[in-house]
Amino acid sequence: MAEHVRIMLSEEEVNQKIQQIAKQISEDYAGKQVHLVCVLKGGVFFMCELAKRITVPVSMDFMCVSSYGSETKSSGVVKIVKDLDEPLDNKDVLIVEDIIDSGRTLSYLIEMLKKRGPESIRVCTLLDKPERRVVDVNVDYTCFEIPDEFVIGYGLDYDQRYRNLPYIGVVEFD
Ligand code: IMP
Ligand code: MG
Repeated sequence: MAEHVRIMLSEEEVNQKIQQIAKQISEDYAGKQVHLVCVLKGGVFFMCELAKRITVPVSMDFMCVSSYGSETKSSGVVKIVKDLDEPLDNKDVLIVEDIIDSGRTLSYLIEMLKKRGPESIRVCTLLDKPERRVVDVNVDYTCFEIPDEFVIGYGLDYDQRYRNLPYIGVVEFD
């Protein structure tokens, strides 16, 4: 089967929206330092673009959890593959996610990170598929709400491919 990618959100649209969200974050965290927690691997492109546009002091850490295999639907199992390097005590933590689907990964993460004594925890996501939500989670910053389609690009993969696309697309099969 031949695969091709249909563009859902162009590079310009995505970058423009990230600029807006970064401005909002910079205003909301005025006088503070924001500690970005990137959820690997999908969140990494978004986090870099976001961080470059935030004007308050920024620190960063990375963690890797897995809830998906090569399949395109949630297993419901969340495993920590790589933990954060630094403690979160008294930090203003902003979790940076690529996409919120069922909400399972995020709700698990928030509960786990809350126990590490941060001053605050908020969530910023590039994409949200509200129709797919199974677990209720509070998302503070959302760039785009999208329909229930499997998307790739800007960090998101289909079987580990397409993360490097500078836009958001949908894989279609002929
Ligand atoms: P959740 O736990 O169901 O919310 O799933 C979150 C994770 O599933 C995301 O961080 C992605 O890694 C992956 N995921 C969910 N939907 C998509 C998609 O449309 N494309 C690529 N990955 C997805
Ligand atoms: Mg993710």
